[in-house]
Amino acid sequence: MSHYQQPLDVTTLPSWQTLREHRQMMQGFNMREAFKADPRRFEMFSTGSCGLFLDYSKNLITSRTRDLLVELAREAGVEQAARAMFNGEPVNASERRPALHTALRRPMGDSLIVDGRNLMRDVHGALAQMTDIVGRIHNHLWRGYNDKPITDVVNIGIGGSFLGPQLVSEALLPFTQQSGVRCHYLANIDGSEFREVMANLDAQTTLFIVSSKSFGTLETLKNAQAARSWYLSRGGSEERLYRHFIAVTSNAQAAIDFGILEKNIFPMWDWVGGRYSLWSAIGLPIALAIGMSNFKDLLSGAYAMDQHFLHQPFESNMPVLLALLGIWYHNFWGAESYAFLPYDHHLRNFVKHLQQMDMESNGKSVRQDGSAVSVGTGPVIWGGVGCNGQHAYHQLLHQGTPLIPADFIVPVVNHNPVADHHEWLYANCLSQSQALMLGKTREEVETELRDGGMDEQAIQRLAPHKVVPGNRPSNTLVMESLSPARLGSLIALYEHKVFVQSVIWGINAFDQWGVELGKDLGKAVYQRLTRYENDNAEDASTQGLIDYFRGRHRG
Ligand code: F6P
Repeated sequence: MSHYQQPLDVTTLPSWQTLREHRQMMQGFNMREAFKADPRRFEMFSTGSCGLFLDYSKNLITSRTRDLLVELAREAGVEQAARAMFNGEPVNASERRPALHTALRRPMGDSLIVDGRNLMRDVHGALAQMTDIVGRIHNHLWRGYNDKPITDVVNIGIGGSFLGPQLVSEALLPFTQQSGVRCHYLANIDGSEFREVMANLDAQTTLFIVSSKSFGTLETLKNAQAARSWYLSRGGSEERLYRHFIAVTSNAQAAIDFGILEKNIFPMWDWVGGRYSLWSAIGLPIALAIGMSNFKDLLSGAYAMDQHFLHQPFESNMPVLLALLGIWYHNFWGAESYAFLPYDHHLRNFVKHLQQMDMESNGKSVRQDGSAVSVGTGPVIWGGVGCNGQHAYHQLLHQGTPLIPADFIVPVVNHNPVADHHEWLYANCLSQSQALMLGKTREEVETELRDGGMDEQAIQRLAPHKVVPGNRPSNTLVMESLSPARLGSLIALYEHKVFVQSVIWGINAFDQWGVELGKDLGKAVYQRLTRYENDNAEDASTQGLIDYFRGRHRG
């Protein structure tokens, strides 16, 4: 029987019980003291692989904590579950499918037989198809309706068909090819976004990629139709539409019905989840921007992380450690959210991709077998680029009431050195995690104010406001410079972190039934808004808001 068919109540595992007791003993644990007491703490709690270095010494942990957490991963069957996922077992139980994004980065020559079919043939066939179109566009062999070369590509897609490609093409801007094309992203159904994206585009030289695994997503289909009208209204013809519209989808018939030529359809498969799909032809805009060679380096980086995840002992396995630390805070310390703080302009949208990857995957309340979970699952993921966050929400991290663990990410080398800016950026990243850990005691505050000549009454008034509790946990991930391979490793690291947590919680990281209800209700509300149907919405609030809209649009 597959691991995934068995309900797993994690609280019944011996290590979970022991961790509960251990948590009580850790109540008074102080990181400052721990660093003073053990000069080897940094070495003990840091590890590296795939060009990434992880310092997790600024956490509320001892080596006993790590041992117990690793034991939890073992008892929960993380190793078996990882093998099941990589081998193509139906780890997505509710949809009875495998989740094989890892197959997308396996090298040529590998074979992976699932249901009698070697999936690696499909994967490398699609890569060859991508190589062909990227070459033709870059070499100006692919031309628009009046034979001008393509200069701009608009990716029409949302969710996983947008966030991953946008993140990567933005993050790898320094690797953009001279011969490459400008990539634009059209995701939302909001007409303002459509207008903004199309404002400076020329229909003669613009190629649209309709990127949708299902080819049934409202926002994408509406934008694709609007793009088609835009193209036709600017001199494009139906006959030459094939030069301007291509698709990436697992629903080829729907793309053909839209008017896309069969040979211009790139495959997606039901064994790849949308939020894990940037490694497939969904990543075509990335390849068009940075070239196929860099795209393949991105895949190699992810593959290297896959190997690390599969083979590294849990004690130094980066995704496993990040997952366990997340569980430690979420389930044992009551942390409801997790901050993600990259100190790199090129990673400024990483958190958006992570939000889908983590929250759509682990925002679940029942286990794989349908039974209710007995512990909290996916936390709220939020954050943004440093230093900007320091002047916005870091105040809450330092002195607010909730405990919010954070991941800092920073490259040692910046692609765009300006004076000593990168030294300052790096210093700020380090000093933020240091400040979270050290804090500032009342005694230190008072001494500082006294040394500054402040009178005693003023000191007593001000001191409580200046105390920073400290002892707040964070991880720091450092890398050389952001490269395609290192970015691939970094994204895969978080994919596996999310997976490990799902295994421990016993939930399915690869379905997303919750988003369907909103889609269905959206259709019903739309009918009432536009057709003036007499039957009322099921609740007075929704009906009142429908009436408000109708009142405005009637006149
Ligand atoms: O509504 C959520 C979702 O299904 C995501 O899981 C997915 O990435 C996104 O919509 C887009 O789906 P598609 O690629 O099928 O258009």
